This record gives sequence, C-alpha cells and structure tokens, in this order.
Amino acid sequence: MKFVGIVGSNADQSYNRMLLEFIRKQFKVKFELELLEIDEVPMFNQDEDWKESFQLRLIYNKITRADGVIVATPEHNHTITAALKSVLEWMSYEVHPFENKPVMILGASYYDQGTSRAQVHLRKILEAPGVNAYTLPGNEFLLGKAKEAFDEKGNIINEGTVKFLELCLDNFVKYVEVVSTLKKPKLIEPEDLDCNHPIATTVTDVDPDDPDWVEKVAKITGAVSGSTYVKLDHGILTVDQINMFLKSMPFELTYADDNNQFLYYNNAHQDPDTMYAKRVPSQSGSRMSTVHASLPPQRMKNVEWVIGTLRNGNQEYVRTLIPNPNPAVLNTHNYQAMYYNDGSYAGINEIVFNFKPWLDWYLQTTGQRLVGGNTPASPATHVDASSGASDSSVGGAVTTDADSGASSH
Ligand SMILES: Cc1cc2nc3c(=O)[nH]c(=O)nc-3n(C[C@H](O)[C@H](O)[C@H](O)COP(=O)(O)O)c2cc1C
Repeated sequence: MKFVGIVGSNADQSYNRMLLEFIRKQFKVKFELELLEIDEVPMFNQDEDWKESFQLRLIYNKITRADGVIVATPEHNHTITAALKSVLEWMSYEVHPFENKPVMILGASYYDQGTSRAQVHLRKILEAPGVNAYTLPGNEFLLGKAKEAFDEKGNIINEGTVKFLELCLDNFVKYVEVVSTLKKPKLIEPEDLDCNHPIATTVTDVDPDDPDWVEKVAKITGAVSGSTYVKLDHGILTVDQINMFLKSMPFELTYADDNNQFLYYNNAHQDPDTMYAKRVPSQSGSRMSTVHASLPPQRMKNVEWVIGTLRNGNQEYVRTLIPNPNPAVLNTHNYQAMYYNDGSYAGINEIVFNFKPWLDWYLQTTGQRLVGGNTPASPATHVDASSGASDSSVGGAVTTDADSGASSH
C-alpha cells in the first residue's frame, strides 16, 4: 500500500514533518509513505497556471497515484497554515486529485490541544465539493506539546502515544482497503502508438522506423560510447560497464518512452529465437505501432490499454503470465511505469522474465512446495496488478500474445 504524507508546514524545522518521518520509519512494514513538501508552492491565484510549479505537479501526480493521503497539519491561529490552504485551493480548482481519495488527518503543535481546532477546519475543507476527499472519520491523532514529544532521534517518546498512533493508522489502512473497492478507474485516453508527440528527448531528424536509427541518432546527438564515463544519480560507470550491467540482467528488458517510441532492449546480442519476447536490433527506435505491427487489431488495443493504464495512473504496473507448454517456463511480463522527477509519466520499463527457476530455487531453499490451485504448467492467464485488482476490475480476464506479451482483456 502506498501513501503520501503532506507536510502541512513550510518551515525548515517542522514537528509535523518529524511526525510523518517517524510514521514512515516506525510503520514501514505496514505501508510505504512518501513525504511531500509544500514550501515552494506559490500562493493560490486563479489567474496563474498550477503546472508552472514543479512542487504542485509533483503533489498532483503523487496524490493521483497514491492509495491514500496523510495530512499532518500544524495549527496557526486556531486553523491550518496559509501554505496548506493554498495547496488545497490549487488542488481543487483546475484539478481534483483528492476526489474520492482516502485521507487521514493528524497534527502536531506546541500546546495541549494539539491542532484540534486546525483538524476540525481541515476536515471541513477536505469535504468541500471541489476537494471531495474521503476523510477517515474519528481517529483524531493530536500530538500536543510537540517540543517535548520527540527524542533526539526523532522518535515519539511516549509508548502509549505510539500505540494510539498505530491504532489510528491501522484503522486508516482498513479504511483505504474498503474505499478502494469503490474506486472508479480513470478513463483511458486513446494512445498514439505512431510517436506523433515528440518529447524533449525525441530526435526528430531520423524516422523512428529507420533500421539504422541507433547509428544515425548517435551521430546527431554525439552520444558517448565505449570507455567514456557517465555520471549517474549515485555512481559513475563507463558506457561499456552500463552495457555489461544491463546485458547480465537475468531477464529481457525494454524501454519505451512517453511518446511510445521503443528506444532500447538489453538483449540485442542474443538470438531473437531464444528470447521469450522476440526483438531484433532494427526495432530500436521504432514506433510502438511498428514493433507490434503483426498483432491483430484487438491485441493492438491491449497494448494501448496497458500504456493508457500506466499513463493515467490507474496502476503503476501491469503483469501478465504468458501460457507456455514447457513446464520449465513461467513466462511473466511486467510493464512498469517510469516517472519524471515531477512524478509525471515517462514511459514503460518492461521486464520479461522466466520466473520458474527462481520459484524452484525458493521452494528448494525453504523446503516448501506448491499445493492446489493452478499448476505452473497451466497457469491462469489473468492480469493482477499493483492494486490487487481482480480480473473484472481491471477490464476482464487477460490472455496474452506470446511474442509481444501484449495482453487481451
Ligand atoms: C503564526 C502562528 C500561530 C500559531 N498559532 C497556534 C495555535 O493557534 N495553536 C497552537 O497549538 N499552536 C500555535 N502556534 C504554534 C505551533 O503549534 C508551532 O509553531 C508548531 O511548531 C507548528 O508546526 P510545525 O512545527 O510543523 O511548523 C502558532 C505558531 C505560529 C507561527
């Protein structure tokens, strides 16, 4: 389960941030919690474009995909901060990411009442028609005397307080589970598989379907290769090392960007006939419509459905199991959304993976065996994505195309 926590304060030192950070580490096995800051959000102004603000885009994208939101509100003059109110105004004017989203309120403040008045106001605001959140009833967690509440490591000192916080969070998890059954998936817009919407990184001088796309684009961009060093987020590798690293992955990896251009696969060295999802070097750079040209129209619709589902945030990944008569093969495809820094959709990372050797290893190592249900030789062919959604809620049972992994639902 993935939650985001909104720090309702724009101060560098914030007890509400400390509270969310404590929740994140203390209850990490119960849910994932990502903190969202509001310190750079401009004052709401309906004449201005919310998309101009990086932080607002991030807040919008993260809330849209989260299973639930925890808002930690300070109390300023018996109400919420102006900074938090501004965020809620932005997020209820042209866009409405809180709509039908489960939200839990908590807060920390200096005095005994521990944000009780701010929480009442916040609850009312979250229920306003433009916001329309599903706010968890009751379960008021109020952390008074915030200055004395934490130790030097940021942990809440009082055990009883931690226990009560856990109870409130457990109730929120249950609430999110219930509310998720009411969730209506967002509409999937038609996908342009012909790459007609160039993005900042698209090289428009070479036709995507050109079989020499890699060489031609490398020349135009001056792309580095071989022993040249590349600085990554947390490491420095040569291009040769990056290639070795990716080639050694025990699965087939592909990358298509948000213009639906198939940019890369890691098995160009491999005989295509030995691959679970057959790719050939001339496909690098191709339009997705070309990569899947052999598919019947219905299957092409399924490619669009997978991309659209990831693009609109209904799911962060889609998984399929490709039927295979060979009992040594459990051919799984995982289509994972990738995101830009502001949380917007950046394309698909596809992993094609024979899960059977790993499964056998796990069973042997732990002395377990599979019982009942579908046997590996005749697996169920259905999508069960991140939400745990059943076939019907993600659009019906899925069958798959053995070559492309495109699923039909
Ligand atoms: C302008 C202002 C008004 C405040 N009003 C209240 C208040 O009404 N009730 C309260 O409990 N604390 C009040 N405080 C103190 C806050 O509880 C305290 O600053 C707290 O640390 C704010 O949360 P933060 O640390 O997450 O920013 C106020 C603080 C400021 C700066």
